Amino acid sequence: LDNGLALTPAMGWLHWERFMCNTDCNAEPDNCISENLYMQMADAMAKDGWKEAGYEYVCIDDCWPSASRDAQGRLQADPKRFPGGMKKLADYVHSRGLKLGIYADVGTKTCAGYPGSFGYYDLDAKTFADWGVDLLKFDGCNMPKWTLLAEGYINMSKALNNTGRSIFYSCEWPLYEWQYTQPNYTAIRQYCNHWRNYADVYDAWTSVTGILDWTAEHQDLIVPAAGPGGWNDPDMLVLGNFGLSLDQQMTQMALWAIMAAPLLMSNDLRNIDPKSKALLQNRDVIAINQDPLGKQGRRTAKVNNFEVWERPLSGGKLAVAIINRQEIGGPRFFPITLAMLPSWKFCNPECNVTQILPSYQEMGIQKLLSTTNVQVNPTGTALLVVTPSTLDPRLHEK
Ligand code: DGJ
Repeated sequence: LDNGLALTPAMGWLHWERFMCNTDCNAEPDNCISENLYMQMADAMAKDGWKEAGYEYVCIDDCWPSASRDAQGRLQADPKRFPGGMKKLADYVHSRGLKLGIYADVGTKTCAGYPGSFGYYDLDAKTFADWGVDLLKFDGCNMPKWTLLAEGYINMSKALNNTGRSIFYSCEWPLYEWQYTQPNYTAIRQYCNHWRNYADVYDAWTSVTGILDWTAEHQDLIVPAAGPGGWNDPDMLVLGNFGLSLDQQMTQMALWAIMAAPLLMSNDLRNIDPKSKALLQNRDVIAINQDPLGKQGRRTAKVNNFEVWERPLSGGKLAVAIINRQEIGGPRFFPITLAMLPSWKFCNPECNVTQILPSYQEMGIQKLLSTTNVQVNPTGTALLVVTPSTLDPRLHEK
């Protein structure tokens, strides 16, 4: 979507995976969907280095609205859980130097049963703009007919544009269309800043591998759709929660960088493990994710229970991730020979190799045909950046 936003993938925080539809503020005042939750996350984002690392959007998901619209037909926040109202919350988030994201649904009701935007796209877009909202996640539940999905997503895109406020548009259009037909990614890219393709992430390794497998299987279709202005969204980062080991968290972080994915964390920033925090704030991984060339990477090999994924970067560099998909035994070695990379020409006669994960390590100059062994833990990932040491301009023509 050519609205000046998402020139690189969005970074921020989104409540769903960690806080879901917890509306019981009596029983769980600190973990229920309420203005306090977003104010506290905004505070944490502003003071604990997240903002400096690039995380910008504080995003609300489902279950924020009141069960009914107001007398003018406008959506309204649940008055008990958002006593200050959405405008005040937006002001608060802005005062911390951050942006506020909100959630709505293209159909008659949200997935959790709150009022949907069907029939109200213009009014809802205007309401969000009046509140000072900066991003809309638009869900796809409860559409009267699936054939109306595309039209609904397009109309909301236009409605947002008509408000005159710059609002990032996060879609789930392809995810809901896939149940019936192969989505038209040219149209999706034209109207959305990023889009979900596949099932919701949950706090488990099988969820992360399911998303990676789906992405690799559909890469010929979806990778070309990604670029500045519009990105594939493999869903939230769940680092810092309960289900992933440290190695698995490295895999999610590394592969989300390779996939040029939005980095929307869903975790509790008020209380997060320092190792998860360091990974989420790793500048070298973020630089790969945010690379200005804006090309999504893809899986390039599957061998001996390893997967190799590669992403071309600006300046003729290449990011390479090696996942050890074997869930038995100990660390294994993967032999890397630069000549086997698709962009091997850049490494003739040699390249400089840096390991970013699991730990930063200069591996030095590697010759085209020499082999280096990279050690990878089970379910972990080694993330490398390969830089041409001789920058022959002829090799950089596209
Ligand atoms: C389905 C979406 O895919 C999730 O990310 C989340 O927004 C839920 N709906 C909320 O009901």
